[in-house]
Amino acid sequence: MLAPMAGVSDLPFRLITRSFGAPLAFTEMVDVSGLYQMDKRTRHMLSSDPYDRPLGIQLLGNNAEHIVKALRSLEGHEFDLIDLNAACPTPKITRKGKGAALLKDPRALGDLLRVIVEHSTVPVTVKVRAGWDQDSINAPDIARYAEDAGISALFIHGRTRMQGYSGTVDYRVIREVKDAVKMPVIASGDNISIPLIGKMFDETGCDGVAVARGALGNPWIFREAIQFLRDGTKCARPDINERVTVMKAHLDLLFRHYGEKRGVGIFHKFFIWYTRGLPGMKPLRDRAFRTGSADELIDVIEELWTSRE
Ligand SMILES: Cc1cc2nc3c(=O)[nH]c(=O)nc-3n(C[C@H](O)[C@H](O)[C@H](O)COP(=O)(O)O)c2cc1C
Repeated sequence: MLAPMAGVSDLPFRLITRSFGAPLAFTEMVDVSGLYQMDKRTRHMLSSDPYDRPLGIQLLGNNAEHIVKALRSLEGHEFDLIDLNAACPTPKITRKGKGAALLKDPRALGDLLRVIVEHSTVPVTVKVRAGWDQDSINAPDIARYAEDAGISALFIHGRTRMQGYSGTVDYRVIREVKDAVKMPVIASGDNISIPLIGKMFDETGCDGVAVARGALGNPWIFREAIQFLRDGTKCARPDINERVTVMKAHLDLLFRHYGEKRGVGIFHKFFIWYTRGLPGMKPLRDRAFRTGSADELIDVIEELWTSRE
């Protein structure tokens, strides 16, 4: 599945990854207070379409009353599951007791999940980390409380909050979580290549994997992973024609979703990701960054053909 990524996993990106087989995806993380105020930005973040299924919404919050209020404001929006974020390491968020701060009190997290399960019409999941820091690895404990609360599956990023996004992934703690519960466990952390995805399954016994950074500029990872998991074979990497076609399709989806100005601005970072690993890209990337219109950006994308000849 496609892992939730704030600022990345919007509708256009989800549709691109789904076209390569990503079976499940999440909205960007939505703060529950933004939800019950339902401002324009939040409404935009919640938008979806029939090809964008099944879809989870990921909530950020730590107050049961606020979460229940937010769930009510979701009526009319169709989601297939609701995930609570207990993994975000950003200090601005953890200082407020949200995200990974919820890992500090497994019992309280369990209570919060129970309330969500009681008020939700769709399955509830939680995304956790291995623990707050190396001295407080408690994901197996959290998983037991969460399962008792009635959730349907658990996502675990096998790093601590203190590790952020660097350092090694703790495969052992993911296996311990898997052994501690009966519900499906979906593993996250360094699923950035087919061998590492294979390693995640082998070492943890997980039921599924969530792909995050490995999908940035590389939606093909889903096609490759699905084929590998099905019959152990490798499929060819995308050639330059396919890369150009997908980049243009992604840009087109961004324009439609955000309008031209914002769509171009958002695509700048994707241009870097889509051209990662290709030699001699600096001049083209610099030009892509200076583009202000769709047409200019399409010209730069199409230059990938000639710049590689
Ligand atoms: C740009 C970015 C944004 C992220 N935003 C979220 C988020 O909103 N919610 C969440 O649960 N995890 C978020 N994550 C964490 C990923 O879902 C994933 O667990 C983590 O990146 C580890 O996987 P990886 O090593 O394969 O990238 C984010 C990661 C990245 C790189």
